[in-house]
Amino acid sequence: MTDQPPAPELRLGVVGVGLRAGLATLADRPGTARVVSCADPAARGRADARSLFGPGVRIHERYEDMLADGLDAVFVLTPDDQHTAPARYFLEAGVAVFVEKPLTVTLADCDRVLATAARTRTRLYVGHNLRHLPVLRTMRRLVDEGAIGTVRAVWCRHFVGHGGDYYFKDWHAERDRTTGLLLQKGAHDLDAIHWLAGGTARTVTALGDLAVYGANAHRRSGPQGPRRVQDWFDEGVWPPSALRDLNPVVDVEDISMVLTRLDNGVLTSYQQCHFTPDYWRNYTVIGDEGRIENLGDGIEGDPPVVKVWNRRRSGYRPEADRTLDAETFETAGAGHGGADQALVDEFLGFVAHGGATDTSPVAAREAVATGIAATTSLRSGGTSVQVPALAPDLADYFARHQPGSRGPATRPP
Ligand SMILES: NC(=O)c1ccc[n+]([C@@H]2O[C@H](COP(=O)([O-])OP(=O)(O)OC[C@H]3O[C@@H](n4cnc5c(N)ncnc54)[C@H](O)[C@@H]3O)[C@@H](O)[C@H]2O)c1
Repeated sequence: MTDQPPAPELRLGVVGVGLRAGLATLADRPGTARVVSCADPAARGRADARSLFGPGVRIHERYEDMLADGLDAVFVLTPDDQHTAPARYFLEAGVAVFVEKPLTVTLADCDRVLATAARTRTRLYVGHNLRHLPVLRTMRRLVDEGAIGTVRAVWCRHFVGHGGDYYFKDWHAERDRTTGLLLQKGAHDLDAIHWLAGGTARTVTALGDLAVYGANAHRRSGPQGPRRVQDWFDEGVWPPSALRDLNPVVDVEDISMVLTRLDNGVLTSYQQCHFTPDYWRNYTVIGDEGRIENLGDGIEGDPPVVKVWNRRRSGYRPEADRTLDAETFETAGAGHGGADQALVDEFLGFVAHGGATDTSPVAAREAVATGIAATTSLRSGGTSVQVPALAPDLADYFARHQPGSRGPATRPP
């Protein structure tokens, strides 16, 4: 995309000006793109739109009123269960759409959004920023270079240390709003696992529990009002039982473990826990000639390293056979370790020129499908659940018109 002629400044809209609106500020750059229109039904969202995007931005209560502002693209940054309607509305109008992950909270809605993009031939991009996280890009590059042979397994442990503040004090805590945290939070890692392994889950089994927050009786008595996570986040609260003002409804799991078999035969595991003292992700990719692991992920500013073990020896060797630190990574920076800026840049390039991207709407759908299958499994005693495949005509459309990067070359099971 770098050899393309310069594009005119893009006119952008933002639907939902909450915590994640910071992403759109990364796109608001004179000469490249300008946020000219926002919508949020909440007064706080509309006030934040003014302070984030300046006096010139047009501000609406209803996203339907943004079309009159002449937009090239919109960021849909609403809560997960509010993605489908605005995404489809702007796709129908021929406006390119960025949807935050997870694409939606049901498979039927995912497929409706993909079908709308395909029918209207309008560009759809899903914000899976982990595909731009420097530490994971380094691991993916090592896999592509053959550092560990053929990938046979990917394991991810996700220690969600701020889970109580982030996921149990607002809409995230409700099944009705999210389906569950294996979808809400897990979509990130399920997609990254697919990307590292070069396949997508077809068979899923999971166990999980509401082990800690369910027993906490300190629930918010009134409505949430304009308060957001920035207003209550407090790293000093520990242990998790000391948390106060939880969401009145808490019915999602706070610990879960998923096993999957991918369509290329790779086996994966994903563990997610919302009451650990630390907050980071640990991935291991195991090939038939070695193993890669990250220690630290760079998202919270911690200095990550990636280690490669690919010579046989006894015991744990901290120095490994190769260690890569942040200085050797492609990119680094603020906002999920630099991932957010890279994500936004890829989206803007895609809006202007089309073409292949590292993220993929089809892969985003597969992450949701896997999260739903895992949630179904854990809520039915760990039974094996098959992930429904995308309709062939949609798979074919996106493969031809909007290829994402699927991962290392796939191998037959
Ligand atoms: N990629 C990441 O790393 C990452 C991180 C955080 C959140 N997210 C995702 O970003 C999205 C937004 O999350 P958040 O934490 O900013 O939520 P939030 O609750 O802080 O903000 C959502 C905003 O959307 C507004 N809104 C609700 N319904 C709307 C509608 N119909 N039209 C317009 N605005 C509406 C709300 O008033 C609120 O201001 C979610 O899908 C979430 O999963 C992604």
